[in-house]
Amino acid sequence: MTGLKDTFFRVIDYLRVSVTDRCNLRCLYCMPPEGVVPSEHKEILSYEEIVRIIEIGAGLGVRKVRLTGGEPLTRKNISFLISSIKKIRGIEDLSLTTNGILLEKYAAEMASAGLDRVNVSIDSFDPVRYEKITRGGSLEAVLRGISEAEKAGLRPIKINMVPIRGVNDDEVIEFASLTFNSDHHVRFIEFMPSGNNDYWSSDKYITTDELKKTIETIAPLTPVHMRKEGPSRYFRLKGARGVIGFISALTHHFCKECNRLRLTSDGKLRPCLFSETEIDLKAAIRSGEPDSEIERLLRLSIEIKPEGHNISNIAALKGPEALGTGRRRPMSKIGG
Ligand code: GTP
Ligand code: 5AD
Ligand code: SF4
Repeated sequence: MTGLKDTFFRVIDYLRVSVTDRCNLRCLYCMPPEGVVPSEHKEILSYEEIVRIIEIGAGLGVRKVRLTGGEPLTRKNISFLISSIKKIRGIEDLSLTTNGILLEKYAAEMASAGLDRVNVSIDSFDPVRYEKITRGGSLEAVLRGISEAEKAGLRPIKINMVPIRGVNDDEVIEFASLTFNSDHHVRFIEFMPSGNNDYWSSDKYITTDELKKTIETIAPLTPVHMRKEGPSRYFRLKGARGVIGFISALTHHFCKECNRLRLTSDGKLRPCLFSETEIDLKAAIRSGEPDSEIERLLRLSIEIKPEGHNISNIAALKGPEALGTGRRRPMSKIGG
């Protein structure tokens, strides 16, 4: 099977699995300074439970799995989970999204366990500013992590940057220029009104169109078609090795091509990042339901996947408080 079709004819073949809601950073836009209270260990799915869900998903056509957090590398023995998922028939692409702080320690081990690639979040190349944005993170550690990931063959490495006006927007050209001499994918994510809601405001938010204009002051951008694009649209600067991606969560709806489901660390299936509707897989698993029931719930989550979100309307109408009503679960408890 190559993926189930939902009500809007989208093929769902990508499962994002949050393995923990803990994080070793406190990014300004994601968390309040005191952090978000993490779930107790017993609330979190065990690796065996996660593997069982992915096996059943693979039977329904899931081909791509991404491990997310919080910060996935803060969970013990992640390489064991990676090697277990790698053995599941049908899974063709296994990747992980990380803030990179612990990447130096785990890159080689995860690559040996079968991880295909990593996406790393960096919002500044200035160590002092990086520390401020992440409330304490070490840029040096992340850069060492990226070079370990390269050595370990975790390619392509995708760098995710969230440009925020007045905070790091003066570094957009520096980030884009990275692609001249490396084959990293550099991706700019539109700042979404989610996570630490008090921090988002329309004056901090920068559209993809504005970013492109800024970047095109150094060289023209030509569209590039990648085999599996996901929500990102790719371009190449004239003469560059790597590509630049834009994840335009607010301005360009990619909902009509959305191919993903999310599994939260506390075992809820979430058909859409921006909808609070969740299906409780953990309850079904822990009450001893057979695989056929888990499969039914997976099918159900695909059936009820909404056509799209309306966050741009909400953001325009009501500003930072908008997601108070629509988003009760913080980003660190969903995994982006
Ligand atoms: P690739 O397969 O490498 O392209 O992965 P990806 O882009 O799906 O994964 P990654 O975790 O790097 O995602 C980058 C960011 O894009 C996420 O953290 C979110 O901020 C955003 N994003 C990913 N999926 C969605 C989605 O379904 N809706 C919205 N609005 N944003 C998303
Ligand atoms: N807007 C845009 N991106 C966000 N991320 C977390 N919160 C937001 C937000 N409010 C991104 C991180 C990381 C990924 C997991 O999600 O920067 O790249
Ligand atoms: Fe942690 Fe990622 Fe949130 Fe930063 S954005 S605090 S790294 S979960």
